[in-house]
Amino acid sequence: MPLSHQQWLRQRLFVLGSLVLGSLFFLVVREGTLDRLQLICLIKDRLSPACASGQIPLHALQHKQALRLKLHRRNSTREQLQMHHLIKQLPRAIIIGVRKGGTRALLEMLSLHPDVVTASQEVHFFDNDLSYACGVDWYLKNMPFSFPNQITIEKSPAYFITEEVPERIFKMNSSIKLLLIVREPTTRAVSDYTQVLKGKEHKNKTYDKFEELVIDTNTCEVNTKYKAVQTSIYTKYLEHWLKFFPIEQFHIVDGDRLITDPLPELKMVEQFLNLPSQISQYNLYFNATRGFFCLRFNFMFNKCLVGSKGRIHPNVNPSIKAKLERFFHPFNQKFYQITGRTFNWP
Ligand code: A3P
Repeated sequence: MPLSHQQWLRQRLFVLGSLVLGSLFFLVVREGTLDRLQLICLIKDRLSPACASGQIPLHALQHKQALRLKLHRRNSTREQLQMHHLIKQLPRAIIIGVRKGGTRALLEMLSLHPDVVTASQEVHFFDNDLSYACGVDWYLKNMPFSFPNQITIEKSPAYFITEEVPERIFKMNSSIKLLLIVREPTTRAVSDYTQVLKGKEHKNKTYDKFEELVIDTNTCEVNTKYKAVQTSIYTKYLEHWLKFFPIEQFHIVDGDRLITDPLPELKMVEQFLNLPSQISQYNLYFNATRGFFCLRFNFMFNKCLVGSKGRIHPNVNPSIKAKLERFFHPFNQKFYQITGRTFNWP
């Protein structure tokens, strides 16, 4: 029986719709992350202009993603950039550390905010003498493009423990905002050890056990020369920073809470950075497979951190763990006192 015109049209529309949906599904499954799907974001005008209240307006995110696409290409002419009011700005806030505190998660989560642009790589300007010698222009060049109303944030965890860094940052901008994300010191030390261990394993090299590195075999006390132990003595470094910046310029983020309940931590950061509250529960969802919160940019694009974030830690001998916790205890008390933020650390 011949199809009526209406039936024919319906059939065609169905096929076309299936094709479009199928292609989108294929792209999402294949590419997985938002970063690689920015082309799609260019169709911003065809998508609904804003999300429900409390969520980031879609257009802001898509605008931002379209902008990032341009940056990735890095072949836009000066005129094109000016036309889009795109500029490079020095960071108004820096995540200075601490290594394995959750610095990547914090940066990525802040990038959910439409007024924030983040440097995708660790820049290592202030802690690397060669880069620093290139001057602030070099630093600026390594920043992402942004709109004038956006703020730029970078993270380089080595800044926190490198002696020269506070003075160098102060010379660039004495009123810059400093974000420090910390975790319970023993857990952080184990995470630090795990990162190095994985690096060695990758190169087919062997590595000492955590217990062997963390305890001085001569004294049977905690080995304070071991870098993973040193880095967890937060006061040691913070006190040096305080020679240059008042404590009000720091905001301490609870890295353990960022893992289990990120939103309240992000709200506090928004407030510290004087940003309107934009990141909502909608933007964060728990991914049971990863065992961590992942980011939802909009109804279609989401992103989890790479697999090297959130490693399984080796089991640590309980008596060594207890010894470390006792060792860190007085430093922790001092840290609470200086920062005005108390944690439930042992
Ligand atoms: P582990 O790998 O020890 O679990 P950094 O980015 O500073 O190197 O910190 C890495 C740590 O970020 C990880 O340490 C992980 O626990 C933590 N983290 C916090 N939120 C995370 C998230 N949403 N996804 C993955 N890792 C997260």
